[in-house]
Amino acid sequence: MAVRGEGVCVWDADGNKYLDLAGSAAVNFIGHGVPEISAAMAEQAAKLEFVHTSQFTTPVAEEYAEELLAFAGEHFRGGAVYFTCGGSESIETALKLARQYQVEIGQLRRYQVLSRQQSYHGSTLGALSVSGNKRRREMYLPMVREFPHVGMPYCYRCAFDCTDGCHNCGQQYAAELERAIEATNGEAAAFIFEPVSGATLGAVVAPPGYLQTVAQVCRRHGVLLIADEVMTGMGRTGRNFAVEHWDIKPDILVTAKGLSSGYAPLGAVIASKKVVDAIAAGSGAFLHGFTYNAHPISLAAGRAVLRHLQANKLVAAADSSQAGTPAAQFKQVLETLRNEEIVGDIRGIGLLWAVEFVADKSTKRPFPPEQNFAGRVGAAALKRGLLVYPMQGSVDGISGDHLLLAPPAIITGGQIAWAVEQLRAALFEVFASL
Ligand SMILES: Cc1ncc(COP(=O)(O)O)c(C=O)c1O
Repeated sequence: MAVRGEGVCVWDADGNKYLDLAGSAAVNFIGHGVPEISAAMAEQAAKLEFVHTSQFTTPVAEEYAEELLAFAGEHFRGGAVYFTCGGSESIETALKLARQYQVEIGQLRRYQVLSRQQSYHGSTLGALSVSGNKRRREMYLPMVREFPHVGMPYCYRCAFDCTDGCHNCGQQYAAELERAIEATNGEAAAFIFEPVSGATLGAVVAPPGYLQTVAQVCRRHGVLLIADEVMTGMGRTGRNFAVEHWDIKPDILVTAKGLSSGYAPLGAVIASKKVVDAIAAGSGAFLHGFTYNAHPISLAAGRAVLRHLQANKLVAAADSSQAGTPAAQFKQVLETLRNEEIVGDIRGIGLLWAVEFVADKSTKRPFPPEQNFAGRVGAAALKRGLLVYPMQGSVDGISGDHLLLAPPAIITGGQIAWAVEQLRAALFEVFASL
């Protein structure tokens, strides 16, 4: 039972201290217990706790939306922000927004949303329909509307047996998307993707050129590009949004998690001017809504988080390509695990990393899934006071074990060194017990 958080640490009811190396599922970016965030929430609650968006907008909603559009960059100038209570709600919103956009511009046949295998876009039924996470989908498949899922470059286990970091085969994956779009016979409305894969595959970074070609393919076919930055947005990868690493300009950008750093439930759908204008010039209103859209207290939290991360230069702190940053130190120390017998791959960018485990390094054979290797490492780490995010299924949706690591951007060199040593000890402990 957690009772307190401060900095990179959380305390339980028995007084045990844990270092939050997972950022509480890649949520916490600014650290726990930042007093100015709770103060901003309390101030908003005292002034105006809630109004319904069918009746009012609020100063915090209008001002924060402008600030977020500016944070999202020049491409989103003239766009609009739709606030929700989290990632899945935002994905549902983006899917419906894409459909409405196509209807408004007269493309009534377009409704399919293509996505990638081994992706995760949320737990509601619409979000599950575009997700590839086998374990999280399987039971609900009879209830889920299926659209095409295409392969994605996962260099450590590349389907094309590549030797160049997926440089060339990235283009083959993009070509697969183009064929899938063509096969819909003009029914494709949008393509959704995680710029860096999140929980399902674990921090797999897109190879050079792949996302650029994907964006061109979508444009060529009138298919909207939806970037799911629920996990990667708001600085997590060392850029405001991860798409900036590849200079991709999505039509719709979805974010949550780090948006409020967990201080309040919050998600956002950032629509480009093209999408907003189509609706403004058409029916004039987005036919969608949740009661708690743009909740003032959540927005006060999000706005204070944005100010805090800008004032403290936390996006720069999360840039793993800049020597001396916490992210660069994390990358460097994590790399020391690569030599361990059971570590197959270490991958990631910024402050979003994964360690993939293998039973046999030379063949990349995974552990039998029933051994729950990642889960056991997670439990062993927990006993040592370290929080990580264990996942299974990276190989085929069922087997394959990895840990997702996404610490707050305020982590220090000393904390990184301690955390990685605990992780190493946890690995040894579990391996020895097999
Ligand atoms: C990339 C991505 N999209 C969507 C979601 C769903 O967000 P939420 O759990 O806030 O509904 C997640 C959650 O992990 C995610 O990682």
